[in-house]
Amino acid sequence: MPMLLEIEDIHVHYGKIAALKGISVSVNEGEIVTLIGANGAGKTTTLKTISGLRNLTSGSIRFDGRDISRLAGHKRVSAGIGQAPEGRGIFPGMTVEENLLMGAYARKDDSSKELAEAYELFPRLAERKSQAGGTMSGGEQQMLAIGRALMARPKVLLLDEPSMGLAPMLVQQIFSIIQEINRRGTTVLLVEQNAQQALQIAHRAYVLETGRVVKAAPASELLDDPQVRAAYLGGDLGAAAEPEAASGEPAASPERAEPAGAADASGAAESADDAGEAK
Ligand SMILES: Nc1ncnc2c1ncn2[C@@H]1O[C@H](COP(=O)(O)OP(=O)(O)O)[C@@H](O)[C@H]1O
Ligand SMILES: [Mg+2]
Repeated sequence: MPMLLEIEDIHVHYGKIAALKGISVSVNEGEIVTLIGANGAGKTTTLKTISGLRNLTSGSIRFDGRDISRLAGHKRVSAGIGQAPEGRGIFPGMTVEENLLMGAYARKDDSSKELAEAYELFPRLAERKSQAGGTMSGGEQQMLAIGRALMARPKVLLLDEPSMGLAPMLVQQIFSIIQEINRRGTTVLLVEQNAQQALQIAHRAYVLETGRVVKAAPASELLDDPQVRAAYLGGDLGAAAEPEAASGEPAASPERAEPAGAADASGAAESADDAGEAK
């Protein structure tokens, strides 16, 4: 697979504070690559530096065969770097359709084909063409942000925490749409705190810690990596591989009555995850 995007040993500062301390990441054409890591690891800064919103202190970024390290942000969009930013960044006073069309501003030609494709990927947006962007739910705004980025026909789509704040069902939906976008030919660089799901759809992954890459491997390998499991997937390998055994020995044998507290306890554990949809 030809390499599409290569960032090499990039250092980025906020004032005197080093946010990225020598990060190298490559993305091949056709891949989904994910960056995982805790809050503050440098994931957003990495994406912003690729799209030109932050300047490099040192290092380089190559995209589609040329050095774009010093290229202005809007020229990177025309070159084929699309981004759906963290926190959506849609225009609240514009309609859904106007928001989508804004995504195509860098292109001179007719964008009706891209618009139709965005509506095909996100039927919810088609139903709400004339609704003001700001009155859409969190999940719908996320779809709108992704749809708008796709309007520019990017070669690579940068996604910053697309699942953030979404209810579990919508999280599933967003991840399968990302897979579909990739299947239709767009390369994806995905930043996620939802490491489990990101690793399930990605081909390769990088683990970031305090501005450095501490691990790079095929995503399936990281799903089985005990250290990664412990730090980012909320459990050890044994517990994940044998869910029945982990769900509690007392309930495992059918002839034994379930302890009174057991059902409540597991119910509570599930609903703790069940965060409502934020905006
Ligand atoms: N605007 C900013 N000003 C100062 N420091 C920042 C700013 N944005 C991010 N940082 C710092 O840079 C580091 C990386 O942050 P960020 O890239 O947002 O991480 P992540 O997206 O992985 O949570 C953190 O230490 C964070 O505090
Ligand atoms: Mg971030």
